[in-house]
Amino acid sequence: MSEEEYFILLSCLIESISFFSNTSGVYSAFQKKWDPRAVKPFLLKPIELVLNSKENEIFNSNSMELIPKIDADILYLDPPYNERQYASNYHILETIARYDNPVIKGVTGMRDYSSQKSSFCNKNTALKSLNDIAKNAKYKYLLLSYNTEGIMSQKNIAEILNNYGAVELVEFEYLRFKSNNKGKSKTKKYIQEQLYIVKKY
Ligand SMILES: C[S@@+](CC[C@H](N)C(=O)[O-])C[C@H]1O[C@@H](n2cnc3c(N)ncnc32)[C@H](O)[C@@H]1O
Repeated sequence: MSEEEYFILLSCLIESISFFSNTSGVYSAFQKKWDPRAVKPFLLKPIELVLNSKENEIFNSNSMELIPKIDADILYLDPPYNERQYASNYHILETIARYDNPVIKGVTGMRDYSSQKSSFCNKNTALKSLNDIAKNAKYKYLLLSYNTEGIMSQKNIAEILNNYGAVELVEFEYLRFKSNNKGKSKTKKYIQEQLYIVKKY
């Protein structure tokens, strides 16, 4: 099998797992009883390949370290918007991707993720990181995808982005994700998804 084939199959596996996992979404907890999804015969779903006849470069690294190395027309940021760390909530997918047999802890088999904690999951460090990126990155346009439930407020985001370019905010309603309901689902089913579009000065 070639390296390309290996990674295509690995992507298919990672994309398929969530349709068969015994969880209610993320991997920080598992259902105590088998969910019907988890006992179905496993089916590998093919991923959609986007063939654009270009040589594309993909990086797998912390954006804070990557920013000084890239020069982009459009810089699209889609950071976490709450305190929940992706590395702990999706640790099973990380282990499948790496296939590295890590030391694991606890009932969920958590791998060590201390080096993968995101600064976007804390209000103060998120604002600092956003400022660092908007200030130091090389781009013509910066697009930030966020929403009104995020830990960075609209006011604070706008204050930062306005320093570096002309900011346009596009908003649209989006069905609130179930686990974010916190009992409010009867009164508030929709949140505002937001796209900040910054044209650099
Ligand atoms: C809202 S999700 C983005 C989902 C993605 N747009 C997609 O469609 O699959 C946020 C992602 O940012 C990653 N992340 C968080 N902080 C990061 C950082 N400093 N550098 C790079 N990625 C980061 C998380 O691990 C997570 O995968």
